[in-house]
Amino acid sequence: MPNNVLLHPSQHTFVVNGADSLLEAGLRAGLAMNYGCSSGNCGLCKARVVSGQTEKIRHQDYVLSEAEKNQGYILLCSHTAASDLVIEAQEAISVNEIQFQEIEARVKDVKPLTDKVMLLHLQTPRTNRLRFLAGQSVALSIGDDASNYAIASCPCDDRNLQFHVRDIPGNAFAARVFNGLHSNDRVNIYGPVGEFVLKPESRRPLLLLACNSGFAPIKSLIEHAMSLEQAESLHLYWLATVKGGHYMSNWCRAWTDALDNFHYRELVARSLQDPNPDQVLAQVVADHLDMAGFDVYVAGPAQFVTKARAALLQSGVPAAQLACAVI
Ligand code: FES
Repeated sequence: MPNNVLLHPSQHTFVVNGADSLLEAGLRAGLAMNYGCSSGNCGLCKARVVSGQTEKIRHQDYVLSEAEKNQGYILLCSHTAASDLVIEAQEAISVNEIQFQEIEARVKDVKPLTDKVMLLHLQTPRTNRLRFLAGQSVALSIGDDASNYAIASCPCDDRNLQFHVRDIPGNAFAARVFNGLHSNDRVNIYGPVGEFVLKPESRRPLLLLACNSGFAPIKSLIEHAMSLEQAESLHLYWLATVKGGHYMSNWCRAWTDALDNFHYRELVARSLQDPNPDQVLAQVVADHLDMAGFDVYVAGPAQFVTKARAALLQSGVPAAQLACAVI
């Protein structure tokens, strides 16, 4: 039977089904709970049960003191809910609370999205997952070949990480991905970095503007916002300046079909190769007269982002509600 969990002090809630650990269920609900190893070793997921019953489901090596046990402390990664619960637990609310990590991951899959963009799916070890906030980036390296990429998946699945790798002339890491990376090959991950993340506790609707593979961090933000169920509505505008630029439009249409509060517009640049945001902004203004009430996220090539940022500020979007990422 599902059990409800209320977290203090955030007042966030989530549901625990079956034998999921409290940590797994909380992450799946999009919450940035404190943790490290996910396997009972580090103690970083320590939290205090205020009321309700828990059940231990996994061995833990980390030893809680008698005083901690008497105060109700448990490890969230090795316990599940045996009743509805109230728990006192720390959650990250800013990027500064997430430490820099180095992880050796394996290639789970690599497949073309177009002839110029490859989907790279990495899987971390079960006991060394990447803690990050949606919209952040990492450095990836294979031997001496390294490059920075936005994470294109949701932190609610911290073991399976997706990246949209473009075939850029002279980029040795991309060349490795396009020419012979195989399942189970090793890729090192360093990060996360970046402040292109959802505003904590904001319930404003989200306006998301992507150009080409600027879609990668935007996808992560969308998936995280959906799991948090916090934003009133999500409005995605995706401009393509290259052939095949909307390389995951099927995902966007599926979101549109599944969710009443998700809206998607696909735009093709009038002049290909020109990442000018004017066309997108004209469409946004036509759809939404008042943009000051949105949290706005812009990601794409530098020219797109710089011009869009200036125009959005001029149109009344408060600077504190505008985040930009050059991809
Ligand atoms: S996350 Fe390390 S002990 Fe739970």
